[in-house]
Amino acid sequence: LASRQPIMAGNWKMNPATEEDALALSSALTKLLGEETCAIDDSDEMCTEVVIFPPHPFISKVRDAVEEAGITVGAQSIFFEDKGAYTGSVAASMVKSIGCEYVLCGHSERRTLFNDDDMAINKKVKKVLEMGMKPILCIGETKEEYDLKVKNEVCAMQLSKDLVGVTKEQMKDVVIAYEPVWAIGTGLVCGAEEANDTHAFLRTVLANLYDDEVAQATRIQYGGSVTPDSVDGLMAMSEIDGCLVGGASLVAESFGRIINYK
Ligand code: G3P
Repeated sequence: LASRQPIMAGNWKMNPATEEDALALSSALTKLLGEETCAIDDSDEMCTEVVIFPPHPFISKVRDAVEEAGITVGAQSIFFEDKGAYTGSVAASMVKSIGCEYVLCGHSERRTLFNDDDMAINKKVKKVLEMGMKPILCIGETKEEYDLKVKNEVCAMQLSKDLVGVTKEQMKDVVIAYEPVWAIGTGLVCGAEEANDTHAFLRTVLANLYDDEVAQATRIQYGGSVTPDSVDGLMAMSEIDGCLVGGASLVAESFGRIINYK
């Protein structure tokens, strides 16, 4: 059986409002965790990896504040071009140069509110990998798709389109986040067993796109209203390798409890 290092991630989205508040949250989390978490290159493979995704302007200072707790930082988005006349955009090289190890790609809020389509997401995934960072590729069905019972088809389509041209070797650096859109920010957490079944299905998709080795080695997070109350049940599931946490990652005690799931 493949052993996959657990990975807990906090997506702060467009929060908090000020740098001061971002640093207060960072230091509360750092104090709470002490040195309990492990850095990415820790020799203890099964120690939980922790990544937080602050808004772009806060990344550098948050990185400085949390690194002593073994937490790494990532960017919530990048544009796939290298440089040039793209007002308001941020290149992969820029977030890499300020210490980002991960980049979220294809988050449902980017897909729906900022028109990120699968072709753009695919370019972003490849750019992140090319720059030596790791994408967390987010996929998931809407409520309507869930009700129509086409969840698996939708997720399989997203995975296959978003991973076009990504090699087997590169898949070692790819994390998948299954986030049912209807569970994001709604308080409606997907049942642990149902999420587990979906993750198992996603592994069959990865086996078709690549092979069994990739299917078993790829880490798949669950995201959508994860809280201290639901984390233990989710993490007890064999196919769930971590969580991508929104709202609860903005409260140090909650995120700390999620990281230290039982
Ligand atoms: O990326 C995390 C996310 O979309 C889930 O958000 O607030 O439901 O935990 P939330």
